[in-house]
Amino acid sequence: MKTRLTEMLGIKYPIICGGMMRLAYPPLCAAISNAGGLGNLTSAMYEDKAQFKAAIQEVKSLTDKPFIVNVTLLPSIGVTPERYQAYFETIAEEEVAALELSGIPLNRYEGGKYFEMLKKAGVKLFHKVGSVRHGKSAEKAGYDGVFAAGVEEGGHPLNENVATTVLTPRMVEELDIPVITTGGIASGIGLAASLCLGAEGVMMATRFINTKECQVHQNVYQVMIDRQENETALYGNSIGLQGRALVNESIIKVQEIEARGGGLEEIIPHIAGALGDEIWQEGNLNKGLVAVGQSIGLIHDVVTCKELLDRMAEEAEASLSRGLNMCQAN
Ligand SMILES: Cc1cc2nc3c(=O)[nH]c(=O)nc-3n(C[C@H](O)[C@H](O)[C@H](O)COP(=O)(O)O)c2cc1C
Repeated sequence: MKTRLTEMLGIKYPIICGGMMRLAYPPLCAAISNAGGLGNLTSAMYEDKAQFKAAIQEVKSLTDKPFIVNVTLLPSIGVTPERYQAYFETIAEEEVAALELSGIPLNRYEGGKYFEMLKKAGVKLFHKVGSVRHGKSAEKAGYDGVFAAGVEEGGHPLNENVATTVLTPRMVEELDIPVITTGGIASGIGLAASLCLGAEGVMMATRFINTKECQVHQNVYQVMIDRQENETALYGNSIGLQGRALVNESIIKVQEIEARGGGLEEIIPHIAGALGDEIWQEGNLNKGLVAVGQSIGLIHDVVTCKELLDRMAEEAEASLSRGLNMCQAN
């Protein structure tokens, strides 16, 4: 497989792992990169420069392949400006291959000084966006590519709610930089479809949870297999930060609070990050924010990252040939 993305980053498959708070640790990151994709190390899990640097060095000790770091630039999530500074400086010092930015555009943060610093350090910069307008401003600012994140995605889809199947080709129509489909992709069929829509690759997160290297509780794996594509919901519009998560006690409660106009203080206890370890390490998915996307419906097993990526490449090829055969048949 050869796209502008594989060429830019020197990776075998155009498959990137998205930022995953509490899950995208060094072992998973390195396993994805070793399997030929681009693993993700999510910065917000590290509280200071020393911890973050150690995590980057751990990834480097596990793989000699490139990987990407996620920085979620939303001061409202409680990360201080000093921590953001530590992340950006470390990414530049360690010459990390690529940066996935979500939230505020980096070129508009602190007068764009970190944007310039990272570009000079040779870090490829990608912004995760949910609208053509944001994609165009990323291209204008000098980003190397965009993650076109549709409403299907886990995490925080933009509240314009445009589906991946429309957002990808719209971005491709309007931009010259590579567009990477994000949200709703979990198999080779999705990869093939994304390439047909004009994307240069895919980003996925929910699917990577059910890999052996993700190291979550056994219950998590089973729930990811059992729950279907219609069992996630959008929440958070009333507090200005829409998210998508698995329907469970907490999300139902949050939706009730939002419907009657309740505020942030009432909502926060139900979705606070502190519940994270109970979810992923203790396997209780009935409570708290289980930030997964609609692609959960496409997950049927637990495999290694290598098995997943090799299988996706084979499936993509097979489904592209199938389509071609149908076009040529008569
Ligand atoms: C468990 C989980 C945690 C996530 N945490 C973050 C995060 O901290 N920052 C971020 O930008 N995106 C986060 N996301 C969103 C993903 O990076 C990605 O955009 C999205 O999940 C892709 O859609 P998919 O889940 O259908 O693959 C998270 C997604 C999941 C599933």
